[in-house]
This record gives sequence, structure tokens and C-alpha cells, in this order.
Amino acid sequence: MPTAVVTGASSGIGEATARALSAAGYTVLAVARRRDRIERLAEEIGAIALTCDITDADDVARLAEAVGDRLDLLVNNAGGAKGMADVAAADLDDWRWMYEVNVLGTVAVTKALAPALVASGAGTIINVGSTAGRVVYEGGGGYTAAKHALAAVTETLRLELNGQPVRITEISPGMVKTEEFSLTRFDGDSARAEAVYAGVDEPLVAEDIADAICWVATRPAHVDIDLMVIKPVAQAAQWKVHRRPS
Ligand SMILES: NC(=O)c1ccc[n+]([C@@H]2O[C@H](COP(=O)([O-])OP(=O)(O)OC[C@H]3O[C@@H](n4cnc5c(N)ncnc54)[C@H](OP(=O)(O)O)[C@@H]3O)[C@@H](O)[C@H]2O)c1
Repeated sequence: MPTAVVTGASSGIGEATARALSAAGYTVLAVARRRDRIERLAEEIGAIALTCDITDADDVARLAEAVGDRLDLLVNNAGGAKGMADVAAADLDDWRWMYEVNVLGTVAVTKALAPALVASGAGTIINVGSTAGRVVYEGGGGYTAAKHALAAVTETLRLELNGQPVRITEISPGMVKTEEFSLTRFDGDSARAEAVYAGVDEPLVAEDIADAICWVATRPAHVDIDLMVIKPVAQAAQWKVHRRPS
């Protein structure tokens, strides 16, 4: 049975990905900070729950120990956005959080698990970026900077892994309506979080991205999907979203 590590498996895209990979025959190690949520998920889908803060070196070392010598698939999904302040009014704590989790945490996990991915003989790394890693928008400075950095890391890693049996993909979603992403961004303000999706016909859902991740992971080992940008039909561009008049 192939094994997969999914970070940020306690909610949204990560949880849906853990479910989809488990249904596709992977032994899934579901990773996040909130133990109760990943344990519940693990019990439901027959996965292994691993509590880990990807920005904590000791936690990441424990994760590598739990993974052991061989790993087929790493889905670096843990991440998120905080705030919508202009650059000139940046909250540096928010920026630090976004860089820590989206970039440094992802690099730390990748570094720790790379030997096991190589040892599998056909490893796959899938980084969940964002359309915010491809374009910029007002108020998104901290998040777009972090996801652009993640895109650069993904591309650099592909060059550096050339000749090794590991492929690497960036999945870049646009607007995905998950339970917590916008709540985290707006510090628990549910009215502001809901307004993000107001009047939008069918934003993407977590399962749409999980489906794409599963598809990428299950291509023949010689096929590398570099980048997949996925948006709802209502989102023609980051700044051009069709909304029904209220
Ligand atoms: N929703 C969107 O519109 C959208 C669009 C493009 C890209 N994305 C990206 O897709 C990914 C998942 O987003 P989502 O919508 O599913 O958001 P979400 O529901 O807020 O999920 C974020 C996940 O990351 C985990 N996480 C956060 N900090 C962590 C840390 N330090 N260590 C370990 N796990 C951590 C959280 O778990 P714990 O709190 O339990 O640790 C949670 O499971 C993120 O990288 C996000 O940037 C989302």
C-alpha cells in the first residue's frame, strides 16, 4: 500500500485530501496541530493521526521519525492567510505567521521527508499554493508574498531534484469555500468571512482540490504535472468574480 503524508488534514482541503487518498488506497498520515480533529478523521477513514506544528523543529523531527524510511507522497497543504491590510499598514506578526506556515513550515517538512521520498523510488510532492502565488491583489500583500515564495521554492526544488526519483507539483486554487480559511484570515469574524463568497455561484469546494491532488498523485510515475491552476467558473481572474446582485 502506498503511503501519503497530508499536512493541514484537520480541516478543509487537507481533510478532503486525506479522505480521497484513503479511498484511493493510500495509507494516510494525517498531520495538523488539533489532535481531536485528526484523531476523529483517522478513526473514520482508517488513517494515522500525527499531531505536528510544521513550524516547530521538534515536531517535524517527530513526524520524520514516524514516517520512517519510505514515503510515496507528501501533500504540503497546511497554510493560510491572515488579514487584508495594505502593505503600508502591514501587521508584521500576520506577515511572519504567513511566511512561517506557508513557506518555512513547508520547507522544513519537505527537507525532513525528502530522504524517504527518494527512497520510495517514485516519490511525489504536491504543494498547495494559490492563485495568490501567481498574481497580486490589493490588501493581499502578506499572503501573495508568501505564496509567491512557495511557488519559487516548488520550482527550485524541481530543478534540484532533477535526476532523483521525485516529482513535484504546485496546485494553485482560486476561491475555495472551506469552513475555516476566511475565518482565519479575518480573525474569526464570520460576517467578513461569509462576504468573501457572497453572491458567487458555486465557489470551489475542498473536494474539488482533493480530486485534483488525487489525480496528480496517481499519474504514472514518469509523468510530472508542474502546475495546476483551478478556479470556479465565476472567478475569471483574482479580481474579477461574478456575483449575483443582492
Ligand atoms: N480556501 C481557499 O480559498 C484557498 C485558496 C487557495 C489556496 N488555499 C490554500 O490551501 C491550503 C488549505 O486551505 P483551506 O482552505 O483548507 O484552509 P483551512 O481549512 O484553514 O486549513 C488550514 C489547515 O492548515 C493547518 N495548519 C495551520 N497552521 C499549521 C501549522 N503550523 N502546523 C500544522 N498545520 C497547520 C490547520 O490545522 P490546525 O489548525 O489543526 O493545525 C488546517 O488543517 C492552504 O495552504 C491555503 O493557503 C486555500
